[in-house]
Amino acid sequence: MKSNCVVKQEDNFSGTTKRPRRNRNNAVIRSMVAETQLSAEALVFPLFVTMQKASSAIPSMPGIFRFSKEDLLHEIESCLSVGLKSFVLFPAIEESLKDNKGSYGLKANNFYVECIHEIRSRFPEAFLISDVALDPYSSDGHDGLVEDGIILNDATVKLLADMALLHAQAGVDMIGPSDMMDGRVAAIRKKLDSSGYHHTGIISYTAKYASAYYGPFRDALESAPRFGDKKTYQMNPANRREAIREALLDEEEGADVLMVKPALCYLDVIHELRQHSTLPIAAYNVSGEYAMLKAAAANGWIDYHRAMPEMLLAIKRAGADIILTYFAKEFCSLSSTQ
Ligand code: PBG
Repeated sequence: MKSNCVVKQEDNFSGTTKRPRRNRNNAVIRSMVAETQLSAEALVFPLFVTMQKASSAIPSMPGIFRFSKEDLLHEIESCLSVGLKSFVLFPAIEESLKDNKGSYGLKANNFYVECIHEIRSRFPEAFLISDVALDPYSSDGHDGLVEDGIILNDATVKLLADMALLHAQAGVDMIGPSDMMDGRVAAIRKKLDSSGYHHTGIISYTAKYASAYYGPFRDALESAPRFGDKKTYQMNPANRREAIREALLDEEEGADVLMVKPALCYLDVIHELRQHSTLPIAAYNVSGEYAMLKAAAANGWIDYHRAMPEMLLAIKRAGADIILTYFAKEFCSLSSTQ
C-alpha cells in the first residue's frame, strides 16, 4: 500500500528528538493540527447599491459593483447559493440629494431603507448589517455634521441614533456605526431599546483608523471628504492602547461586536482587543487591501488563489471571529466547488 507519508527513512545525524516537521508530514496531519479554520460562516460581504437604473463597475475594485436595486437582489440570491449569508450594505447616493446635514439619510422610506425592506422580505434568511454614518449623504463628505470646519460630536450622535432606528424598523439584524463619534453606541442602544428594538444588535466600528486604505471605497460612493481629513475622529495609526480604551467604552456602552478597521496593518490591534474583551471581534478587510491584491494578481505578480485565503487566515489567526471582506463571495464560490 502506498503511504501518503513523504518523509524518507534516513540516519539521525543531528541526534535531535524534537521534530516539529512530524506534524507536517502529510495533508491529513496538517489539517488535523491546523489551529485556525476559515469558513463561510465567519464572512460578511460588503455590497454597494446605487440609485441609478444600471449597475456599474468600480475601476479601483475589480470584480466589485455598485448594484442597481434589481441586480442587488440577484447578487444576494447568488451569494446565498454558495453559502454566504451575511451582508453589510452601503448606498451610493445621488449628488443632488446630498446636503450638509445628511438629511436624505434620515428620511423615512429613503432609497437605502427601501432596499433593506426589500432584501428583508425577499430573503429572510440573509443576515443584514446596515451602515450608520453621515458620509454617504453629506455634501461635506464627512461622517459627522460640520460647523465652521469642525466636526460636531453630540449633534451628530443624535442623528446617528435616529438613523439607526430607521434601519432597525426596516429590518436589519445589526447596526454598524462607522462614524467614530464619542458616545454613539450608548445613544443608539438607548434609542433602539426605548423603541422596542432590543433584539437589533450593534457591530461597532470600535478601532477605526484614519487610513489611506479606504481610497477605493470612497471612489465607489464618491464620498471622499470635500475638505480636510478624518483625523479628528478616526484613530491615529500610531496607536494601540487607545484601541483598548475605545473597546472598553464600546463594550460598556452596549456593543455586541467590536470591530477593527482596516485589518492587515492592524493585526496587532485585533489581537489586543481579543485579549481585552469577551465580545466577538470583527475585522474589516478594506477596499485598499482588496485593491492591492487584485492589482498584483492582474499583473501576474502573485498567486491570487493562494494569497487570498492566506490573507483571510492571517486576520482570523490574529483573533478575528468575523471578517468583513470583498473576497467573501469568491472565497465561498471556490470552497463550494472544491
Ligand atoms: C465611512 C466608511 C468608510 C468605509 C466604510 N465606512 C470610509 C471612510 O471612513 O472614509 C471604508 C470601507 C473600505 O474601505 O472598504 N463611514
